[in-house]
Amino acid sequence: MNDMAPIHPGEDRAAELRAQVEALGPWFHNIDLGHGVTTAPDHFLGDYPRFKFARFADAIPAALTGKTVLDIGCNAGFYSMEMKRRGAARVVAVDSDDHYLAQAAFVAQTLGFHDIEFRKLDVYDVGALGEKFDLVIFMGVLYHLRHPLLALDLIREHVTGDMMLFQTMQQGSKDVLEVPEDHPFHVPGTNNPPAYFDDPSYPKMHFIERRFANDWTNWWAPNKAASQAMLRAAGFTIEAQPEHEVYLCRVAPIPYADWADGMAVYPARGK
Ligand SMILES: C[S@@+](CC[C@H](N)C(=O)[O-])C[C@H]1O[C@@H](n2cnc3c(N)ncnc32)[C@H](O)[C@@H]1O
Repeated sequence: MNDMAPIHPGEDRAAELRAQVEALGPWFHNIDLGHGVTTAPDHFLGDYPRFKFARFADAIPAALTGKTVLDIGCNAGFYSMEMKRRGAARVVAVDSDDHYLAQAAFVAQTLGFHDIEFRKLDVYDVGALGEKFDLVIFMGVLYHLRHPLLALDLIREHVTGDMMLFQTMQQGSKDVLEVPEDHPFHVPGTNNPPAYFDDPSYPKMHFIERRFANDWTNWWAPNKAASQAMLRAAGFTIEAQPEHEVYLCRVAPIPYADWADGMAVYPARGK
């Protein structure tokens, strides 16, 4: 017998995993690596994102056999791996941050998800992928962007073949105002501006000039009405809202295409 053999090999593996987890930290996704090791056991939100996923997991088809998935802002790959567990034929997972891509590669390797294709890619460059996916996951990224509607337009135009699973942080009213077809400049017969814009349930994007939750990369916080309005404006229908900030969307015709009447607005508008 080899004198150097560990008395408890499982403990050695756990210690090795813990050291790798620490070297790759800090983590946003808490992922169970087995051997009693998780990537973010002290996560400020708890067992995140597993507890959140549990709230809307049933909204996504249980079997994704033969389907292609694009996970934008994949972080450590929690959702990519869940989609592989559901049998997705191909999962491409992109993030703009090398730190998170290194975590994702380590987790996928450790848990045996060898065929997830991780790539460094900014959401504004999704067109470079040159293909459309059956399901696009765009969760937890919109409010980090300086140009959120542009990102939605690009995702709709270039990579969404059928469905998009979308999540954003939301602030403000949870009521949704039914907006009129048109907004007169004045209340008819008066000099007063219409009151729509003061209504908390009117679609509103709160611009975060400084930091939110100690994070300077948070730029925008839509209210619920704005999330829904932006999704529609980018050419998505909302099929379900299984959790208050999660939307399951499907590709729809681009609205307002007729209004543009040949004007040089964003190209997607004309299609
Ligand atoms: C709050 S985390 C969300 C992670 C995961 N999608 C989820 O819902 O749990 C935001 C992720 O988006 C990535 N991200 C931020 N800006 C991005 C951009 N412009 N393009 C691609 N990924 C981006 C970050 O690096 C980070 O991994």
